[in-house]
Amino acid sequence: MVVEPFADTKMNPTPITRSEIAIRPAREPDLSAISDIYNYYVDHSTCTYGMVHETLAERQAWFASHDPQHPVIVAVRNHPADEEIIGWGALNVFNKRCAYKSTVENSVYLRHDMHGHGLGTRLMEELIRLAQIIGHHTIIAGISADQAPSVALHAKLGFVKVAELREVGYKFGRWLDVIYMQRML
Ligand SMILES: CC(C)(COP(=O)(O)OP(=O)(O)OC[C@H]1O[C@@H](n2cnc3c(N)ncnc32)[C@H](O)[C@@H]1OP(=O)(O)O)[C@@H](O)C(=O)NCCC(=O)NCCS
Repeated sequence: MVVEPFADTKMNPTPITRSEIAIRPAREPDLSAISDIYNYYVDHSTCTYGMVHETLAERQAWFASHDPQHPVIVAVRNHPADEEIIGWGALNVFNKRCAYKSTVENSVYLRHDMHGHGLGTRLMEELIRLAQIIGHHTIIAGISADQAPSVALHAKLGFVKVAELREVGYKFGRWLDVIYMQRML
């Protein structure tokens, strides 16, 4: 059964204060939590068109392929003794051909029980800030058209829809459209 985790986003009853959450560069020990956050959506959502759980080795290879021009960041909740990874974001290579080098594609994923606290906004603001500092020219987001929270998040941060591809995905027994949203930096 498909369980879309976003339906009650706006009704999340437990507020999280801004100071509880820090955003920092991702490190190797974070990859298991990053992978767990992502794999939840493989099973439950069209926000990824992945349909098979990724392995930790695949996530490690993904992380290794990121360089200082393509940062990976995590949102962490600080507890007295340890940190809890509750979301992550990345600037990914959009196309490996050289002329695309100033164009990046973003990813942003929150743990499914952490929606609706403004954390997606904070991760995206940090990705945009980093992209500007690095000197990228534009960011692209490829989003399943049925993912209203993701579309709204990107629109709020200045992304505009530039393309729509019809029925390019098939998951949970239905065809899915993908929209591309773009933000100039
Ligand atoms: C998309 C996602 C990152 C949003 O994170 P979030 O912390 O819940 O979002 P925020 O609280 O920062 O809200 C940002 C904006 O998104 C929109 N939004 C959030 N939840 C929404 C919902 N359920 N329905 C419609 N719009 C919603 C609103 O415009 C909101 O801005 P506002 O609060 O100023 O009105 C989060 O839902 C998520 O991790 N989803 C699964 C992964 C995913 O879809 N990633 C994107 C792939 S590129």
